[in-house]
Amino acid sequence: MPMIIAANANAQGSHVGEWRHPDAWDRPASNIENAVRLARIAEEGKLDLLFLADGNGVRNMDKPDLFAATSPSDRPGVFEPVTLLSALAMVTKHVGLVATTTTTYDEPWHVARRFASLDHISGGRAGWNLVTTSNPGDALNFSHDAHVERGDRYERAFEFAEIVKGLWDSWADDAFPQDKASGRFLDPAKVRALNHAGKNFKVAGPLNAPRPPQGHPVVFSAGQSETGKDLSARHADCVFAIEGTIERARVLYKDLKDRLEKYGRSPDSLKILSGVTIIVGETAAEAQRISDELDDLVPPAVGLDYLSKMTGTKMSGYPLDGPFPDLSGEHVGPTGIGKAIVAKALEQKMTVREAYRSILPQMAGNLFKGSAKEVADQMEQWYRQEACDGFMVAAPVVPVGMERFVRLVVPELRRRGLFRTEYEGRTLRDNLGLARPANRSFSPTAKAAE
Ligand SMILES: Cc1cc2nc3c(=O)[nH]c(=O)nc-3n(C[C@H](O)[C@H](O)[C@H](O)COP(=O)(O)O)c2cc1C
Repeated sequence: MPMIIAANANAQGSHVGEWRHPDAWDRPASNIENAVRLARIAEEGKLDLLFLADGNGVRNMDKPDLFAATSPSDRPGVFEPVTLLSALAMVTKHVGLVATTTTTYDEPWHVARRFASLDHISGGRAGWNLVTTSNPGDALNFSHDAHVERGDRYERAFEFAEIVKGLWDSWADDAFPQDKASGRFLDPAKVRALNHAGKNFKVAGPLNAPRPPQGHPVVFSAGQSETGKDLSARHADCVFAIEGTIERARVLYKDLKDRLEKYGRSPDSLKILSGVTIIVGETAAEAQRISDELDDLVPPAVGLDYLSKMTGTKMSGYPLDGPFPDLSGEHVGPTGIGKAIVAKALEQKMTVREAYRSILPQMAGNLFKGSAKEVADQMEQWYRQEACDGFMVAAPVVPVGMERFVRLVVPELRRRGLFRTEYEGRTLRDNLGLARPANRSFSPTAKAAE
């Protein structure tokens, strides 16, 4: 199984200063030409998929410096991701198209329908990144006064995912003969209502879409709490994980894979993609120059605001060149990412300035920087030592960083037999080495139970 490589397709890139770099494309806010170009670069490299993180709110209006400068996960001016991927489906043939949608502020019906449509439109290349929403402020856009509490979010997420999959299984694969001669558009024996009635949802079904080409679009998930990991083990095909060191990534990898048995799944049925920012140059010195140029585009006020955002703790009171404060006992932000940042800053005895500079390009994830050989060495090490099955690559500066990654690193990985030279199959599942799920409404056991 080749290494999986996903492209983070955020138009503002992954580094806070990145959009200002002279090589970055102009006017990245909601710009379709840019998105098309990035999709083509990914497909030329035969990368597995484009990945769009997402939220449903404008963030950081209480942090004026960061708000004005914007950081990559703020996304104040972006396309609705499934809409964007539907457009990209028409200008690509092979690359997978994965969008983030929340289970906390959306409805299972809408999500099942949207991703079934994207799977049909793209000929089986759709993926849904299931999140429970990291930004508490999103709640205010959905008739809530506060973010739904984590336990309730996850309880809803489990039920939500079950319903979405049930809706995707509404119709047998051959339910739509559309036979002009006989007049049978569909076969009434090949549809099942869902009739779900649970704690959070009542959904009758069936879905108004034929079964998706992949059976189920590929399900990603991205939570790192205990319940988040259980949700992945129960429902996900892929996990987007962020860990700052290979040791911690190996622990997370094993933990996730070990959880699968409980759900009757094999270790191969869940792929773990580690978030990494890759800064590659023709030489290590060129990579370092790009990296320095990027860091210098971020003034300290923006850096501190960014650190506050990521840790969920106001950092502006701490001296820039003093030691990073021990926040390990505190609640650090709404996601596991904040905890990972604090752990790394304390472990490596960073100052506050060093801490924010260290997260500029990669949040709490990893940074692989250097020549193509050096970057490929690190990717190979993580892959071979079971720290991940592949990578979610962000490559500043967009788009030249992704072009450079495809031109320099991908051939080096191929030379080592680690990455594909041609797409293996037609669908995203085929390329990821994931089986097409049986239809639970029409499997032999479902028939026997009727
Ligand atoms: C690597 C990673 C990526 C995430 N991406 C998103 C995202 O794009 N949008 C979002 O609303 N939440 C995102 N989340 C938040 C999670 O879905 C989840 O709500 C949050 O991490 C809290 O759950 P946890 O404590 O299990 O990590 C992400 C989390 C992680 C770890």
